[in-house]
Amino acid sequence: MAKKLRKKIIAGNWKMNKSVSEAADLASDIKSDLADYRDADIVLCPPFTALKTVSDVITQTHIKLGAQNMHWASDGAYTGEISPSMLRDVFCHYVILGHSERRTMFNETDEIVNKKVKAAIAGNLCPIVCVGEVLQERESGAANDVVKKQVAGSLAGLGDDIGKVVIAYEPVWAIGTGKVATPAQAQEMHAFIRGVLGSIFNEDIAQSIRIQYGGSMKPSNAGELLSQPDIDGGLIGGAALDARSFVEIVRLAK
Ligand code: PGA
Repeated sequence: MAKKLRKKIIAGNWKMNKSVSEAADLASDIKSDLADYRDADIVLCPPFTALKTVSDVITQTHIKLGAQNMHWASDGAYTGEISPSMLRDVFCHYVILGHSERRTMFNETDEIVNKKVKAAIAGNLCPIVCVGEVLQERESGAANDVVKKQVAGSLAGLGDDIGKVVIAYEPVWAIGTGKVATPAQAQEMHAFIRGVLGSIFNEDIAQSIRIQYGGSMKPSNAGELLSQPDIDGGLIGGAALDARSFVEIVRLAK
């Protein structure tokens, strides 16, 4: 089967960083270099408090806005939570779901992630669904099983809606550690995930879904990672907090 052309997608996950004015500055700096860039999809995911401001900065550009989490309900008594329609209200197109920090620190299970993925799609948002093994799982040879279970659980019951999903493979041992997966390790897992998607959905769908790599991606290692056949972009944490390094990574994604 002919390989489908997948447009690369680079997303900056700013995590719990940046005040509103710092976020505006970072988004403006990125915009001044990339406002007309069309060779890759670009997504900025600031904290909730800065979504509206960043949205205003990047309006009328190709740069899209993403959130880092949301609740699955549309409204109601959920103190401290944010709904899909609230994210659409500030012009979010994407939402990161099931990040390992949420899975480990906030007890998000595959079932919870699955509810959120369905709610995001119903709410007209593209979910960026994160999966990845911890170090001990990799060392004990369980990485494939762990990731397969996360993919199957997080995407259960999606049917045709799967086309709106982006997957981010983020080996937990590489997140914020400076320890990056080798291009070969990452490619192997990405190809494995694509195979899992093929068995759950079908081969056409598997070939069309974009799978980002995340975990200490930076300008010095992004080129090699992004040139792997099954790596379709990056979910960038630390390096996305600096406009120059984020822009450099985007320019490596063609
Ligand atoms: P990192 O974070 O690039 O700082 O490793 C990636 C992520 O957690 O999405």
